Amino acid sequence: MKRKVAVIGAGPSGITALKNLLDQGIEAVAFDRNKDVGGNWIYSEDESHSSVFETTHIISSKTLSQYADFTFDEFDPEAADYPSHDTLRRYFQAYAAKFNLYPHIRFGTMVKHCRWIDENTWEITTEKDGVISKELFTDLAVANGHHWKPRYPEYPGEFTGEFLHSHHFKKAAPFEGKRVLVIGGGNSACDVAVETSRVSESTAISWRRGYWIAPKFFFGKPSDKVAEGTKWLPVKVRSFFNELLLKFFWGDYKNYGLRPITVPFGATHPTINDELMHKIRHGKVKPRMDIKSFEGKKVIFEDGKEEEYDSVIACTGYWLSHPFFDPDFIDYSKGPVPLYLKMFHPTITNLYFIGMFQPLGCIWPGAELQSKLMAQELIGKWKRPKNIKELCEREVSHPHYRQIDTPRHTITVDYHLFVKELKKELPADFVSKTPVSARENLLQSS
Ligand SMILES: Cc1cc2nc3c(=O)[nH]c(=O)nc-3n(C[C@H](O)[C@H](O)[C@H](O)COP(=O)(O)OP(=O)(O)OC[C@H]3O[C@@H](n4cnc5c(N)ncnc54)[C@H](O)[C@@H]3O)c2cc1C
Ligand SMILES: NC(=O)c1ccc[n+]([C@@H]2O[C@H](COP(=O)([O-])OP(=O)(O)OC[C@H]3O[C@@H](n4cnc5c(N)ncnc54)[C@H](OP(=O)(O)O)[C@@H]3O)[C@@H](O)[C@H]2O)c1
Repeated sequence: MKRKVAVIGAGPSGITALKNLLDQGIEAVAFDRNKDVGGNWIYSEDESHSSVFETTHIISSKTLSQYADFTFDEFDPEAADYPSHDTLRRYFQAYAAKFNLYPHIRFGTMVKHCRWIDENTWEITTEKDGVISKELFTDLAVANGHHWKPRYPEYPGEFTGEFLHSHHFKKAAPFEGKRVLVIGGGNSACDVAVETSRVSESTAISWRRGYWIAPKFFFGKPSDKVAEGTKWLPVKVRSFFNELLLKFFWGDYKNYGLRPITVPFGATHPTINDELMHKIRHGKVKPRMDIKSFEGKKVIFEDGKEEEYDSVIACTGYWLSHPFFDPDFIDYSKGPVPLYLKMFHPTITNLYFIGMFQPLGCIWPGAELQSKLMAQELIGKWKRPKNIKELCEREVSHPHYRQIDTPRHTITVDYHLFVKELKKELPADFVSKTPVSARENLLQSS
């Protein structure tokens, strides 16, 4: 049967899904509510899908953050080790232009509802300029991202100052002269604390536990390139070496006033930040314990400390959300997420999730490999394992990292293991750098 695939999203994951479907001659349409390709990486000060900040740079280095089909050397050999959000936006748009994806993307189009009818039919309801349309597809690839729906913390009492989530934090300037409290120990929290500390009257950061912080460079090399040298070792051994290296690098957290780390490396999603520790030791960012309650502009911490703030910025992560599915059909927001290779559903054979995993590393190289595997299945060159249900359960019971049970830890993968698992399923010549149109021209002229 001729397949026709709907792709939700034209962010880094959606464009590679589309590219690899078209590559195999499969009809596909991507829908994106945005006006252009790039997803989270289209910086916007307006309320939008985007969550990056004015100063965001990627936290994985460029050679581990590229599509195999279109590398940074092919895009811009002078790109920095850790490119800025704007370079990344241009990279994704160049990928889409190079592989002639734009004619296959319907921008300004929101996918409102996806109804599974049978293994060959989905009914997709979209809205564009207030007009609702329904269209049938054989397959659905979901690449709607998982860093756009803010998850707010709740505390007893009421904070009467300004309270916002990092999704709505765009730049530090509005916090000039203010007393700011940042909540969280993830990459957003540490970036936001560092940035606001440049202009605020005071900045504090509240952690509910101790976090492993990795610098962006070790021995003059990007840290992930250094870590790549040990990728052949078991995860536990690698984690042990990472712990040693980080303890040696930072010394005792007591010297920073930070709470001690009580879990192994990898048990929480690592934070990559060069400047936080520097700002703490320069008195620009003050470490604080977990919040106990609010009282007007006063924040009461678990150690009894009480302080007034003008602004509280909750950098407390995002919900995994698929609002276009009926909640009794699919709802992964509270975990677990039993999907084989984080993409194949145990029973619905014409549904694929692309990029819905949280690597210790970058998302789109893995999303690219998932997309190639999806396309291989759709052209009949790859068959899903018969015991797929068991394999889905196994992904939940045997994660790459044993992590603490908090909402952000339901879809973690180890970058290197994940890439290896996906490559094992793909043909050896999976890299495909020639745009389909150029290939067709070559065929016609030969
Ligand atoms: C501040 C910040 C920094 C980050 N830094 C890194 C980093 O350094 N490295 C890294 O790997 N990741 C990082 N991330 C994670 C980031 O989400 C991924 O890098 C990447 O954007 C994932 O690509 P994606 O295509 O899966 O999702 P997204 O980029 O979120 O793209 C999803 C697309 O789907 C569209 N869409 C969603 N729902 C619908 C719908 N119903 N109808 C139509 N269109 C829809 C959106 O408009 C969007 O264009 C960061 C996230 C944040 C918030
Ligand atoms: N390139 C960059 O510079 C950059 C910048 C920002 C974000 N990112 C990426 O974007 C993604 C999202 O990152 P994020 O930092 O926004 O979210 P995140 O990784 O989910 O981190 C959320 C943080 O908030 C804490 N938290 C959650 N609920 C809390 C509560 N009720 N009270 C106190 N603390 C709470 C979490 O603690 P627990 O550990 O207890 O769960 C964690 O420390 C990640 O992939 C990240 O790597 C990258």
